[in-house]
Amino acid sequence: MYHKLAVMGLAIFGLALLCQPVFARDKADGLATVDICDKCHKDIHAKWADSMHSQSMTDPIFQTAYMQAYLASGGAAKKICLNCHAPTVLVTGDYDLKKESTKEGITCHFCHSVTDTHPDKGTRFDLKVSSTMRGPTGGGAKNDYHDSVASQLHRNSEFCAGCHEYTANGIKIMGTYSEWKDSPYAAKGITCQGCHMPAEPIPGAGGEKGKPRVLFNHSLAGGHSIMQLRKAINVSIKAINRGKDRITVDLEVENSGSGHYVPTGIPTRKLVLYCQVRTADNKISKKSISFEKIIFDHSGKELLLDSEIMLGNGTQIVKDNRIAPGEKRKEQMVFYNSPVGNITVTAWVDYLYQPQLVQPTEMRIEMNRTEQTSAP
Ligand code: HEC
Ligand code: HEC
Ligand code: HEC
Ligand code: HEC
Ligand code: HEC
Repeated sequence: MYHKLAVMGLAIFGLALLCQPVFARDKADGLATVDICDKCHKDIHAKWADSMHSQSMTDPIFQTAYMQAYLASGGAAKKICLNCHAPTVLVTGDYDLKKESTKEGITCHFCHSVTDTHPDKGTRFDLKVSSTMRGPTGGGAKNDYHDSVASQLHRNSEFCAGCHEYTANGIKIMGTYSEWKDSPYAAKGITCQGCHMPAEPIPGAGGEKGKPRVLFNHSLAGGHSIMQLRKAINVSIKAINRGKDRITVDLEVENSGSGHYVPTGIPTRKLVLYCQVRTADNKISKKSISFEKIIFDHSGKELLLDSEIMLGNGTQIVKDNRIAPGEKRKEQMVFYNSPVGNITVTAWVDYLYQPQLVQPTEMRIEMNRTEQTSAP
């Protein structure tokens, strides 16, 4: 009798192992590490490995800011920063970064376990962690590793809002989702995924009804992608007026391709419009205008560090002249000189980002340039 039960118990145990073989063995704290998903989703894994989502913990720019925030807040920063940068902590509680999975940043299994988001509440995500993956179709071929369930949320911008929208102290630090929500793109049903995760056919793979099978691009190219940046902004010289003592240049900067303000996200990023006048004898004068969000703390000091801004030290937004989606911003630059002969006017925009690395650096990407010659 005793023996029989033990054998039965073993048999049931064995059966359970058979039903979820890979998952039960490989999962860590209920959340599977990315190498498990990589076994079958190689293409997606390669794109993800290229994305900022896979570097959200290891990226030296984050690490420097996290270190500063951690020290400045006596450790309190871990309960703020990690909820977005290493969201598996919401399940594992590994706020002291002891586990390998925490260093993986924003992982496959995390994103595919999200059931709802609340960007402006303490609990940003509702999660259901299991071997059932939530994805855009819920379907596809059966596999011996996991079930899938269709999730409309994964096709909507509200999914991304869980992290790409951040208010602290009543100050909107990052408003990428709400900027999109108020834009013509939201009205037209063009989501974050529509621009950042375009469907790409898999060469040689057949899909339903003869259509090629597609994969959604998981590399999520953003501000670190020169291609994306160049698509987003157009600058044009509308008029050059040469007066007695001055040259007046009318310019236009258009946010033609971005689904939110430019710049968006972390407020230390700026867009700078430059205009330069070159005279026939090669004298150059240059002027610039910055498009940026500037936040002050309670003592009236401008917050310049990512760490201070993201900790929520801000108490007021003193400037926000960033360019809205679809907006054509008119600007005028006046140069007080009146050269003889031809002048050449050049206008361009740079995307400027001064990350606080241990060694201060500057990243500058030229986005768009235009030039005109004007005879006297
Ligand atoms: C044993 C192979 C295997 C492993 C391991 C695996 N998958 Fe899958 N997965 C599949 C197959 C097969 C499909 C269905 C075909 C497709 O959509 O690519 C699928 C589909 C999916 C879908 C699509 C659901 C939808 O709505 O279209 C998601 C999301 C997903 N997997 C996530 C994951 C994640 C996250 C992991 C790691 C925790 C993982 N998978 C591990 C084989 C696997
Ligand atoms: C769990 C939080 C989280 C979710 C959910 C999330 N993101 Fe992110 N995302 C981040 C973080 C954190 C970074 C920055 C990582 C870094 O640079 O250290 C980032 C970076 C990005 C970037 C690159 C930004 C750049 O400067 O190059 C893009 C684009 C992006 N996310 C788009 C999306 C989209 C679209 C979605 C929804 C499909 C989404 N994200 C969902 C947290 C998240
Ligand atoms: C930032 C969150 C996020 C991360 C991280 C992420 N995904 Fe996805 N994934 C999505 C979203 C959102 C979609 C749906 C895109 C759409 O419908 O436009 C998706 C779609 C999918 C699909 C189904 C469609 C397709 O492309 O075949 C699979 C399979 C999948 N992901 C697997 C993975 C795997 C494997 C990883 C890790 C290597 C991963 N995902 C990482 C958010 C994420
Ligand atoms: C109409 C297409 C479009 C839509 C819709 C869109 N984006 Fe973007 N996004 C872009 C382009 C183009 C860029 C590069 C220029 C820039 O920085 O704005 C970009 C940049 C970004 C960046 C990097 C910002 C930076 O300053 O480096 C993030 C993060 C991002 N998008 C997230 C999102 C999220 C989240 C959504 C949905 C709420 C979204 N995007 C909707 C086109 C789009
Ligand atoms: C609400 C979610 C959220 C919280 C909380 C959060 N971040 Fe982020 N963080 C993001 C997202 C999303 C991005 C990418 C923004 C973009 O590109 O538009 C980002 C980007 C950054 C960047 C720029 C990384 C790069 O490579 O350019 C730094 C630095 C950073 N965060 C530091 C912190 C620190 C330090 C904390 C805690 C004090 C923190 N963040 C809290 C979501 C968050």
